[in-house]
Amino acid sequence: MEQAFSYRAGALCCEEVPLVAIADTLGTPVYVYSANAIRARYRALVDAFAPTPPLVCYAVKANHNLAVIRTLAAMGAGADTVSGGEILRARRAGVPAEKIVFAGVAKTDGEIRLALAEGILQFNVESVQELERIAAIAAAAGREAPVALRINPDVAAATHEKISTGRKGDKFGIAFGEAVEVYARAAALPGIRPLGLHLHIGSQIGDLAPFEAAYRRAVELVRTLRARGLPVHRLDLGGGLAVRYGAEPPFDLSAFAALIRGLTRDFHLELVLEPGRFLVAEAGVLLASVIYLKESAERRFLVLDAGMNALVRPAMYGARHAVLPLREPEDGEPRLAMDVVGPICESSDLFGRDYRLPRLSPGDHVAFLTAGAYGMVMASDYNSRPSPAEVLVDGVRWAVVRPRRDPEEQFRDERIPAWLAGDGAR
Ligand code: LLP
Repeated sequence: MEQAFSYRAGALCCEEVPLVAIADTLGTPVYVYSANAIRARYRALVDAFAPTPPLVCYAVKANHNLAVIRTLAAMGAGADTVSGGEILRARRAGVPAEKIVFAGVAKTDGEIRLALAEGILQFNVESVQELERIAAIAAAAGREAPVALRINPDVAAATHEKISTGRKGDKFGIAFGEAVEVYARAAALPGIRPLGLHLHIGSQIGDLAPFEAAYRRAVELVRTLRARGLPVHRLDLGGGLAVRYGAEPPFDLSAFAALIRGLTRDFHLELVLEPGRFLVAEAGVLLASVIYLKESAERRFLVLDAGMNALVRPAMYGARHAVLPLREPEDGEPRLAMDVVGPICESSDLFGRDYRLPRLSPGDHVAFLTAGAYGMVMASDYNSRPSPAEVLVDGVRWAVVRPRRDPEEQFRDERIPAWLAGDGAR
């Protein structure tokens, strides 16, 4: 499809809908997602692997809005989940249980029971203790839990420190050197059906070399396990495919697919992928309004009504999201350097320094691009500002898929204990 976000007649649009119409109707901050951009990403991924695409289990953590999950489920996607809550969301959004994988380092007994009762595709198991816990719960229920062992391939993913997961010092997975022993143990445990291996080395990985290093180790392990007579049917290769926040080159999907095809060709494995960001990041924007343009001799600050409460990635990872004004700048309109900041009372509430934007005035709107992944899911009520609404656009149609939560709603469920209630203010 054409660009999901583009200027038409001077107005930045999502598909056929001018974003200013959404901002004016709902107020800001508001996240806007393009259904057709999500579909296009899913299709591109599946097509890259034609004629034998893997099962694409969308990593729900990237954007867990039911409408987003539903858009992908309707295309045939499964779900990668990391909690009972995500399993419930995926089911509610229409993902069949047999397309749900359940990962995460801290599965509780309740979550394990829920996953077994739903009949999910597989548990991605991260430790021996967890394996034994799942075995005990499944055996007591007269069930067999389908299991993939998450291995830690000890590969550095060349991404941000906080989102790299596949080095041996990271908390994830079973040490590569212990994997054979643990797999054999899994095969011997009642209540466990070992199906294969899982790995995920990190997020926002644009270079294929770390994928290749990790996947090579995984197929090496498949070979070793099979040589020992252990059954290995499935390989879940995780997510981590990079998207564009600025001028990075696009992710080379066909090289990625060729790499995986080449490495797995002789193994007759069922393949699973768990992309999150790749499917939704570029399909979403965050709209904000200008409150002030604060200028001094030193610097110029564009002060917005959205901050780290709405989009925490810049404060947390130093990420830089591109910013576009909703009104297209005139030809030759001068650009000014400005630091883009939110309303939150701490200095880390900074989207970035030296953005080059036309002069904007209070009431004007801007869009943060590539905000569809790890945006709203990581938003908070910090500073008691209204939480962003969420909107899904589909061609000319748009709908609120989660309304704004105003402060009254945020504190509605809080209680003042009885022993304080009578006192009033002193
Ligand atoms: N599978 C597993 C086991 C994961 O832990 C993750 C992400 C994914 C799949 C999906 O990864 P993706 O395809 O989206 O890269 N909040 C951070 C990203 C954290 C990623 C956590 N795990 C950010 O905003 O950059």
